[in-house]
Amino acid sequence: MLEQVEILLKEVKSFNPKSEKEIEDFRLYFLGKKGKINDLFTIFKTVPKKNKKEFGQAINVLKQHAQVKFDEFKNSFESQEKVERIDLSRPVNLDNLGSKHPISLVKNKIIDIFNHIGFTLSEGPEIEDDWHNFSALNLPKEHPARDMQDTFFVQKNPDLLLRTHTSSVQVRHMKDNKPPIRTISCGRVYRNEAISARSHCIFHQLEGLYVNKEVSFADLKQCLLYFVKKFFGENSKIRLRPSYFPFTEPSAEVDVMCNICSGKGCNVCKNTGYLEILGCGMVDPKVLENCEIDPKKYSGYAFGMGIERIAMLKYSVNDLRLFYKNDVKFLKQFEKSI
Ligand code: PHE
Repeated sequence: MLEQVEILLKEVKSFNPKSEKEIEDFRLYFLGKKGKINDLFTIFKTVPKKNKKEFGQAINVLKQHAQVKFDEFKNSFESQEKVERIDLSRPVNLDNLGSKHPISLVKNKIIDIFNHIGFTLSEGPEIEDDWHNFSALNLPKEHPARDMQDTFFVQKNPDLLLRTHTSSVQVRHMKDNKPPIRTISCGRVYRNEAISARSHCIFHQLEGLYVNKEVSFADLKQCLLYFVKKFFGENSKIRLRPSYFPFTEPSAEVDVMCNICSGKGCNVCKNTGYLEILGCGMVDPKVLENCEIDPKKYSGYAFGMGIERIAMLKYSVNDLRLFYKNDVKFLKQFEKSI
């Protein structure tokens, strides 16, 4: 009798089905009502008492093995079947992900370009005090040039204001660091201006500053030309016009060749062939002095641009307000543009 159980146990252990049908046959053969194990239990009743324990244990071991084997293969076939039921040819429904805002795209691209030639990024607060935003930059109280940047003051504290430009960050950077200084600062700035297609009370600026021994206007021009070529294309040209900023002397405004008519003249550039993109100049010695840098030893240049303006030129967008409407269809267009 025991030998018969041993033989069946070996059969169970070596069972390796190739199909679901074989698993079912296995179940019927061993575990079914009329299966081998039930037969053994019937025989068990007739076994002499002294052999009952040994025989009973052997049948139970066999039953356990058969059950474990059956469960194991049944489960593995079922999960295999589930995988097979997935239709891999079905089209994928991608989630509707957002895209980067064109202002961020342009900002990151400009930062990349300047990082490449050694400019680090510096940051500062948007709520600024009068000294960092104006006085340190050669704009003492009552200076008429303050009118160039109509300012939002913080209520009940005329010393606090929303920064009107990111030059305030450069003042902070110059105070905290010693030359050589090569940094760009960028972020939101605020001016009390009527909202129109060309101006907004909030916009973004990116400004650069280089202070070292013997920095010249030629260095400034080459740096800006490098930036314009990298951003607008190798064939771009720039033009500098004399201008005025209280914190730079001499100062200039920089125009880039119109990318729509390639300098020939069109209605976007008002037939001039050029579009204004930024302001720049040599840092006024008084500003260096205010920031505890010796103007006899060091000189520097600075430049500043509006990111919205650069984005408008790059993408031929004619209304600045579109950047703030958050119309997804408008914003999506720029996703792969840079
Ligand atoms: N801060 C100036 C502005 O907002 C831009 C600028 C920066 C001009 C540096 C010259 C030099 O108008």
